[in-house]
Amino acid sequence: MAAIALLAALVTPAAAEPDTKALERLVRQDCGSCHGLTLKGGLGPDIRPQALNHHDRDSLTTLILDGVPGTAMPPWRPLLSDEEAIWIADYLLNGAEE
Ligand code: HEC
Repeated sequence: MAAIALLAALVTPAAAEPDTKALERLVRQDCGSCHGLTLKGGLGPDIRPQALNHHDRDSLTTLILDGVPGTAMPPWRPLLSDEEAIWIADYLLNGAEE
């Protein structure tokens, strides 16, 4: 959790423009700690684009902000702004570069 808090400190003070480099690191390191470094699944499911067909940008943004109650998927609202969550949703849907 210390690493997450540190990343949050890097990510949140930015104004409207998301810090895409920091967000990309967050996806790889924090999301990747459960979903796998290449996002193809680990403790959490595969979240590469082909596995997210049942989501659109809005549903994915909400899921990232609120998490999945009753599972290990945490809510990221305390750490991410709406803009940052939307950026991550797009990043996941469009495919992170391998
Ligand atoms: C502590 C472990 C953990 C972390 C960290 C985590 N997740 Fe998850 N995530 C899960 C689990 C477990 C599920 C499956 C929940 C369920 O059973 O529905 C999940 C589900 C998801 C889903 C839904 C997949 C689908 O097919 O509907 C998405 C999208 C997702 N996570 C994205 C993220 C993103 C983006 C991050 C980083 C900001 C993240 N997760 C961080 C554990 C984690």
